[in-house]
Amino acid sequence: MRSPGQLRQCDQRGDGCSGGPAHHASRSPVNPIQTRRGDVVSIRDLLEFARTIKGFMPDDEGLALYEAALSASTTVSSTWVEIGAYCGKSTVYLGAAASSCGALLFSIDHHHGSEENQPGSPYHDPSLVDPETGLMDTAPTWRRSITTAKLESHVVGVIGESSTVAAHWGTPLGFLFIDGGHGEKVAWADYNNWTPHLVSGGILAIHDVFSDPTEGGQVPYEIWSFATSNDNFKQVSACGSLRVLQKY
Ligand SMILES: C[S@@+](CC[C@H](N)C(=O)[O-])C[C@H]1O[C@@H](n2cnc3c(N)ncnc32)[C@H](O)[C@@H]1O
Repeated sequence: MRSPGQLRQCDQRGDGCSGGPAHHASRSPVNPIQTRRGDVVSIRDLLEFARTIKGFMPDDEGLALYEAALSASTTVSSTWVEIGAYCGKSTVYLGAAASSCGALLFSIDHHHGSEENQPGSPYHDPSLVDPETGLMDTAPTWRRSITTAKLESHVVGVIGESSTVAAHWGTPLGFLFIDGGHGEKVAWADYNNWTPHLVSGGILAIHDVFSDPTEGGQVPYEIWSFATSNDNFKQVSACGSLRVLQKY
């Protein structure tokens, strides 16, 4: 996670993306999608809406994430998983891709925030604390994002610990996005528990990969290094701290 100042800088630059289709994101498809209720929503509207949602993903990385998910549409599985949804920013980028290629995204989060979202931490937002429980609760905001985006036919929210859900998961995945807890134990558990479900040719996106320790925590970087050097993944594109890999 970067500082707010760094996020703004990246938004303004709008570059830093390489490889794959991500750099064509500004020419994203504008074909409208029809929801189950018959509403018509354009992909461009969804991508614009995603920019307005609270979260930790600069616009260029969001578009790169959208493009990465679209590229997974050629795999044999149209089941996708996101770990770490917060208020639904990345979920709407992914949901836009899912809606345009007929995929179904399972968005997993316990919605009580990561360590860095807790009171006293720099990324704490007091407006996301449930006054009844006194705990961080991003679930209502996440739900509002998905409902406003009319993505309910393409996005299923799963509220729970990612490792608990993983222990009961059996469906092969065409796309996996890892952006949950960034602590050593949790982040490695996400990688180890979920990547075996990716089909061959499936796409893995990892957020907050910083090679320079002064820019952010190193666990996502260590996972990325392992995946590309010691596991069955090759990198297909990068944008800011987002890395997009493909399973052999
Ligand atoms: C960096 S935020 C995700 C940001 C989001 N992808 C976006 O675009 O704004 C990390 C999220 O992971 C969730 N999280 C952390 N550890 C988790 C765990 N073990 N299981 C499920 N969710 C977890 C937190 O509640 C938090 O919402």
